[in-house]
Amino acid sequence: MQTKRLRTDPIHLKETVATAAAILKAGGTVAIPTETVYGLAASAYDEKAVKKVFTAKGRPQDNPLIVHIADFSELDLIARDIPAAARRCAEAFWPGPFTMVLKRGDRIPPSVSAGLDTVAVRMPDNPVARAIISASGLPLAAPSANLSGKPSPTKAATVIEDLDGKIDAVVQAGDCTVGVESTVISFCTDPPRLLRPGAVTPADLHELVPDLVIDRAVLAEPEAGEKVASPGMKYKHYAPNTETVLVKGGSAAFAAYVNAIPDCAAVCFEEETEQIKVPKLCYGSEKDAATLAQGVFSALRLADGLSVKRIYVHAPSTEGIGLAVYNRLLRAAAFRVVTV
Ligand code: TXA
Ligand code: MG
Repeated sequence: MQTKRLRTDPIHLKETVATAAAILKAGGTVAIPTETVYGLAASAYDEKAVKKVFTAKGRPQDNPLIVHIADFSELDLIARDIPAAARRCAEAFWPGPFTMVLKRGDRIPPSVSAGLDTVAVRMPDNPVARAIISASGLPLAAPSANLSGKPSPTKAATVIEDLDGKIDAVVQAGDCTVGVESTVISFCTDPPRLLRPGAVTPADLHELVPDLVIDRAVLAEPEAGEKVASPGMKYKHYAPNTETVLVKGGSAAFAAYVNAIPDCAAVCFEEETEQIKVPKLCYGSEKDAATLAQGVFSALRLADGLSVKRIYVHAPSTEGIGLAVYNRLLRAAAFRVVTV
């Protein structure tokens, strides 16, 4: 299959939106930009199209997809028995990097949700994504547009690296502004549960969902045989091919630790690059966790390209969006953590 490249400069945007919508209506797959990461979209009403998404990514069949909408009126077509707190969250955080797990409506085929009777719904903020959803007239099932298990794509070039020849088209827009995937909350548990941290933080949610609990899997390795609330959290995920280790501690200790290890690379903060003498990539500023979120996935991919024996990543603080970055790094490191 030849993967079409669709451009989003002002001259091509209109045609791109129409082409992407036509492919989606015909049951095809299109990688689209969102503010979090690129997503691989297909019609959520079309089981065959949804199957193509699982196949292209090599995604495990038991890992459900998020359904993307562009208009509030669509929420009641996708989900049912929506609690008042969920509606308040939708009003507060949509469009934006926020996903809610609700009871699945009848029109959404079970395969979208990997057989669960729930469905995850999000309204993205990226204008190109919104234009494509609206033009298609469909809710779009879209997981991150990477090969399953790899770091998520925050650039169109990364989507092409992973999925060229496996999908119908890729919409080439700029870098994603948030850089980590949306916050996922389940309203199908009592009390509601944070399944995946993102740019909408527990502090942002506190007022609207005072009884929110943070799922154990956010910061801990699932135990053997443990039933996880969000299937995506049980896999080794976001991971480079190179063995990766998450390192907690101050800058001087981190630098001393990696400098003493042969054949390794460091993924570090920009404030500490001069102290580090091994091959290194900085993923953002320690003082601004939003920059760490923007940079983390491409730094992991680039570090992988250095062909070293091991990658050591300096762990961020878990404040604010730092919790989301830490959560992804923990999985990239397959829960290998050292404190220096
Ligand atoms: O920011 C995002 O959410 C991006 C962009 C493309 O929108 N999408 C994304 O999708 O990250 P994906 O498939 O890579 O991650 C979806 C996560 C997985 O951890 C999955 O297990 C969880 O959401 N999820 C989806 N449906 C669920 C459900 N019904 N119950 C529990 N967890 C669910
Ligand atoms: Mg993903």
